Amino acid sequence: MQPQTVKAQPNYTKLRGGYYTPPPIAEVLSSWAIRSSRDRILEPSCGDGVFLQQASERLIALGAAQPEVWKQICGYEIDAKEAGRAIDRLAALGIKKPGEIVRHTDFFAGAAKHVVNRPFDVALGNPPFIRYQNFPEAQRNIGFRLMALAGMKPNRLTNAWVPFLAAASLMVGAKGRIAMVIPAELFQVGYAADLRLFLTQHFSRIRLVTFKRLVFEGVQQEIVLLLAERSPDLGGGVDVLEMDDVSQLKDALSKPPDPNSSRSVDHSTEKWTQYFLTQKEIDLVRAIKSNTRLNTMEDVGNTDVGVVTGLNEFFAISGENARGLGLQRYSRRLVSRTNHLEGIIFRAKDWERNEAKGERTYLLDLPASEPAHLPEPVRQYVACGETKGFNLGYKCRIRKPWYIVPSVYEPTCFLTRQVHAYPKLTVNEANATSTDTVHRVRFLNGAEPRLVAAAFLNSLTFAFAELLGRSYGGGVLELEPREADRLPLPLINAEKLDSSEIDSLVRKGHIENVLSITNQILLVNGLGFSRKDVQVVDSIWKKLMTRRVRRRSTEAA
Ligand SMILES: C[S@@+](CC[C@H](N)C(=O)[O-])C[C@H]1O[C@@H](n2cnc3c(N)ncnc32)[C@H](O)[C@@H]1O
Repeated sequence: MQPQTVKAQPNYTKLRGGYYTPPPIAEVLSSWAIRSSRDRILEPSCGDGVFLQQASERLIALGAAQPEVWKQICGYEIDAKEAGRAIDRLAALGIKKPGEIVRHTDFFAGAAKHVVNRPFDVALGNPPFIRYQNFPEAQRNIGFRLMALAGMKPNRLTNAWVPFLAAASLMVGAKGRIAMVIPAELFQVGYAADLRLFLTQHFSRIRLVTFKRLVFEGVQQEIVLLLAERSPDLGGGVDVLEMDDVSQLKDALSKPPDPNSSRSVDHSTEKWTQYFLTQKEIDLVRAIKSNTRLNTMEDVGNTDVGVVTGLNEFFAISGENARGLGLQRYSRRLVSRTNHLEGIIFRAKDWERNEAKGERTYLLDLPASEPAHLPEPVRQYVACGETKGFNLGYKCRIRKPWYIVPSVYEPTCFLTRQVHAYPKLTVNEANATSTDTVHRVRFLNGAEPRLVAAAFLNSLTFAFAELLGRSYGGGVLELEPREADRLPLPLINAEKLDSSEIDSLVRKGHIENVLSITNQILLVNGLGFSRKDVQVVDSIWKKLMTRRVRRRSTEAA
């Protein structure tokens, strides 16, 4: 075992969000956004200058005089080396005074004054993805103030790209356009909810372009292109274009949005994931939300994260180690991986099978005594951990004593946290607990766990998991406890389900057979859905699930 006291720190490139836009994307966005040789262009985080190059070339192609172009373009870049590379790039193109174009300074500090007079016609770029804790405070303070000016309420989850986009939007004038590369989480995360509302109010028309294949090499973050225009003459609306890859982009943007493609989405409450749905599907989702005969997970119990040990290597051990070190008596049964849960019922024999495979199936739940009073095998194990520095890692250091893991309890059910094809609730009949790779659900009001776990597997709940959760570049859907609590559950008629039969079908991988049983009993017979409505919820689930899973397979290819 290697000591693992310090969590890997993000590297410098990551800390400043330094990933670059492929030139073909920068080219198409610049051509779309810049329409006149007189346009004034803002690039808030220019990196090595790919957008500055495209903007200069576009202005010149539209008739701007090369020696004067520098007066119309303004780029910010915090990193000296990158700013230097951007200047060199422009100089190599023969652009005059590139040092006047590229400002080596913080965008927020440099640009706050422009919010009032809105001097730009176009904002282009790819703002950095920097989490709150890594976002330097001085920059963050100004960025958050600018967001507040736009009516938004930033919080500790707000990523730097949000104030970059908000501030740049405030700096373009009455007929301005912005074209930016934005993390796809714009569609779904809660902390971007008021940004979505702001964008729809601030811009007359918004186009979002998503890609079936990831277009940024080496970047896990899925991106979308945001093209927005302000104009008193334009009808409102948001439309989403889904492309295979960048090659189709130019053509697609040259066509005006299809008026029939517009959808009514309530921006104050609904995520933009809805734009992947048809109007008919959105209408059904809304009807389902207001259907009072549906329960939610919250009615049944509380969803919570699994045990956060701070160091699974030390606290989660195999049966062989538990026996060899004499620690069995001080351990609890453990689920430490999603694939430990094969069916919807986790029995003692399932846990034993995992144990026999050498998996980490024991969680140390040590006595809270001073080291000197610990039973001998525990004292030795703790001392060995200390020689390896395990007591110094962040999570352990703040505990007293460091080897007592908090919140170890055995839930009624486990719930998948990272979902591949579909989410699953599994009844805990083995008296086990879990690490935080799986959520724990404690039932509160006496609902029968097996029936709830069986009823959970239906196309409606699956569709809402896709709508409520969030997916990342890797194609996995993640459900936070708060999102899981809001999952709708059709429980009328659940007593008619045979949970053992469903458990065995799930273990064999026959989820379609499960759905044909549960959709009929719960959705059609229980809630009175028409067959057509069942098909619609099923197609919503499949469409959204296929979208994200496909990204995982294209990434692997
Ligand atoms: C995702 S990169 C994009 C670079 C370039 N726009 C592109 O599309 O290739 C983001 C850039 O923002 C810069 N950056 C980070 N914080 C900044 C700040 N406060 N002001 C200006 N630039 C910043 C980073 O150094 C990085 O070069």
